[in-house]
Amino acid sequence: MALINWQDSYSVGVDLIDTDHKLLVSLINQLDDAMNEGGGRDTVGSVLNVLLEYTETHFGREELLMEKGAYPELAPHKREHAKLTTQVRGIVERWHGGDDASLDGEVLEFLKNWLTGHILGVDRKYTPFVQGQTLTPEELLACMNLDLEGLDGEEDDDLDRATGAR
Ligand SMILES: [Fe+2]
Ligand SMILES: [Fe+2]
Repeated sequence: MALINWQDSYSVGVDLIDTDHKLLVSLINQLDDAMNEGGGRDTVGSVLNVLLEYTETHFGREELLMEKGAYPELAPHKREHAKLTTQVRGIVERWHGGDDASLDGEVLEFLKNWLTGHILGVDRKYTPFVQGQTLTPEELLACMNLDLEGLDGEEDDDLDRATGAR
């Protein structure tokens, strides 16, 4: 059974964002499946990497849309994103560092709560400002490039640290 079932009530009324949120929910379910099936470390590690990358890409897109819509609560929302990113990054680092115990049901429960909690509690507030705003293909790409570039460098460092490669 899926850990999180997408419900129409989760919609923030913006197609691009709903699609992102559905993908994030799917990744969390895949993570849950991989762990329940006793999937190899590689499988769980790959899903975690994608989850972190996609979380950052999504936050970038959302922040750009809020900026375009002149959303007055942009600054606190960005701080919330930064906090969530740090928490997810921490989980990914602990996993790659061999701290398997940190990735038990408690962590999945935490991921589930921040996703549904953030989407339902914080994201929906921007709906009237963001509705009707769009991102150009260049802007979509920019969110991905910026995030992936930043992630690549830092992740390599993290992996090096975790494996004692330096
Ligand atoms: Fe979101
Ligand atoms: Fe958000």
